[in-house]
Amino acid sequence: MAIMDFGGVQEEVVTREEMPLPRARQILKNEVVGILGYGPQGQGQGMNLRDNGIKVIIGQRKGGRGWKDAIADGWVEGKNLFQTIEEVVARATIIEFLLSDAGQKEQWPKLASCLRAGQALSFSHGFSVVFRDRTGVVPPPSVDVILVAPKGAGRTVRANFLAGSGINSSFAVHQDATGRARERVIALGIAIGSGYLFPTTFENEVYSDLTGERGVLLGAIAGMMKAQYDVLRAMGHSPSEAFNETVEESTQSLYPLMGKNGVDWMIGACSTTAQRGALDWAKKFEAATKPVMEELYRSVRTGAEAQRTLDTCGAPDYRERLEGELDVWRTMEMWKAGATVRSLRPENWAGAKAGKAPARKAAKKSAKKTAAKKKAAPKRAKRPAKKKGKR
Ligand SMILES: NC(=O)c1ccc[n+]([C@@H]2O[C@H](COP(=O)([O-])OP(=O)(O)OC[C@H]3O[C@@H](n4cnc5c(N)ncnc54)[C@H](OP(=O)(O)O)[C@@H]3O)[C@@H](O)[C@H]2O)c1
Repeated sequence: MAIMDFGGVQEEVVTREEMPLPRARQILKNEVVGILGYGPQGQGQGMNLRDNGIKVIIGQRKGGRGWKDAIADGWVEGKNLFQTIEEVVARATIIEFLLSDAGQKEQWPKLASCLRAGQALSFSHGFSVVFRDRTGVVPPPSVDVILVAPKGAGRTVRANFLAGSGINSSFAVHQDATGRARERVIALGIAIGSGYLFPTTFENEVYSDLTGERGVLLGAIAGMMKAQYDVLRAMGHSPSEAFNETVEESTQSLYPLMGKNGVDWMIGACSTTAQRGALDWAKKFEAATKPVMEELYRSVRTGAEAQRTLDTCGAPDYRERLEGELDVWRTMEMWKAGATVRSLRPENWAGAKAGKAPARKAAKKSAKKTAAKKKAAPKRAKRPAKKKGKR
């Protein structure tokens, strides 16, 4: 483990220096990783493990999207792809339980009935174990219970791996039955494609994760973007202007740069007008949203969020209802405008070339305008500010 300074607090991390891939392969050489569930995480982690030379098999029920994806990715039924939990658990030594969290609750009795002493049960979320009074997931004391939680979508797990980098993941040991739980989890973490690992507990992982996705990662940002768009529209701005000033510029320009260089760099690199506005209004937004963040964290800690997840996501008609809810977002003016704005991005012109002439024309027109605007007066990120320290 390396000790690193995170804003003045010393924390441990495991990088590929501490656990190089050949060492991870060595630790896992007698293991068979059985992945239950071929959703975004099962797919990303499974393919990375396979490409890293780890023995891996998949368990996925037939008939759904996961099965189709698994076949398309080259898993072969009866060889390394199985329909039942029992078939996978019989062959595997490390079982990655990567069904949806509601699916884990439903399928737990079956999995529990076939686990053997010495196996490791691995999660990518602390959910099932931490909220065991609601899920019933209490692993037997004879198995290791570990966690590797990639801090990003399954698609990013795979995309970063293919790009030669890696996603960062947290890891934890909840139960060490074999005395090998720690080396197993760290080796597994590197082998699924993590760039580095940082330690957590099952509790801290699930509380921070549920807060994050309901907050700034998705829920808060979707809500705040809609509020800004609606205000601009109510004040007479056009849909394209409102969308560009709210979503397009943030996701395409500012947020990637903020991610790369930090918020101080980003604000410093904007126009003085933008700097003043951002620094003054950040405080107001912090004050306005903090009570909501506190309410959210309380709701996570009491288990209310977990219960709602189990009740809604476990319902047989969940996917249909989800489609209905997503349709509300898809068909609202703001995100319909967004689809048009996205079609105008130069990288999306190919579709227009295949016969959608008006969109192509519009894109050309807009590109000319953007190029002229850029030349005349770059509004944001006009110059890289001097780097202070190591970022
Ligand atoms: N997605 C992320 O960004 C992310 C990031 C970090 C950690 N995680 C965690 O990783 C785990 C897996 O998440 P995910 O996003 O990959 O998958 P998911 O979309 O939550 O779940 C999809 C998988 O679960 C299967 N499934 C759902 N209900 C089932 C049931 N009742 N019986 C049998 N199979 C069932 C699906 O099969 P069908 O295809 O047949 O429906 C599919 O294989 C979760 O614990 C999640 O919290 C997710």
